[in-house]
Amino acid sequence: MKVSPQIEQLLNAQINTELYSANVYLTMAAWFYNRDLDGFGNFFLVQMQEEQFHAMKYFRYLHDVEGTFRLETIPTPEQQHASIVEVFQKALKNEEEVTRSTHHLIDMSLQVKDFATYQFLEWFVREQVEEEATMRNILAKLELIGDDKSGLFLLDRELGQRSFEGEAD
Ligand code: FEO
Repeated sequence: MKVSPQIEQLLNAQINTELYSANVYLTMAAWFYNRDLDGFGNFFLVQMQEEQFHAMKYFRYLHDVEGTFRLETIPTPEQQHASIVEVFQKALKNEEEVTRSTHHLIDMSLQVKDFATYQFLEWFVREQVEEEATMRNILAKLELIGDDKSGLFLLDRELGQRSFEGEAD
C-alpha cells in the first residue's frame, strides 16, 4: 500500500518534530549535568532516547507504506533556562506541541480515509498522554519541594533511576 503524498509529507514533518524534540531534551540534559544534577540529566537523556525511538517508529512505518524520508533542517533548541521549573514547563509545552501535531496527523488520515495510518497512530495517542503526564507530575513535585534542597536531592536521585526500556512494535 502506498501512502498519499499529503500523509507522506505529514509523516515526514512528524519525524522531524520528533528529532527536534530529541535535541531539545539533549540540551536540557546538558543544562542539568552542568549544574551537577545528574539524576535530572539522566531523566532528559532517557527522554531523548524516547524521542529517537518515536522518530524511528515513524521512519519504519513511512518505508512500510512506500514513502520517502526527507530530513529537514532541524532548528537549534533554546538552551538558556532561568530555573528547573522553567525547564519542565518548556518540556511540557514541547510535549503539548507534539500532541497537537500527532492529533492533526490523525485528523488528516481520517479525512483522506488512510485507515492504516490512523491505526498506526493509535499508539502515539496513548504515548502522548503518558509523556504529558510525566512532565506534569514532575512539575507538581517541584512545586511541593519549593526551596527545600533535601527534596530536590531526593527527586534528583529518583530521576537518576530512569532507564530507557524501548518497546516492542
Ligand atoms: Fe515523541 Fe515526547 O513525543
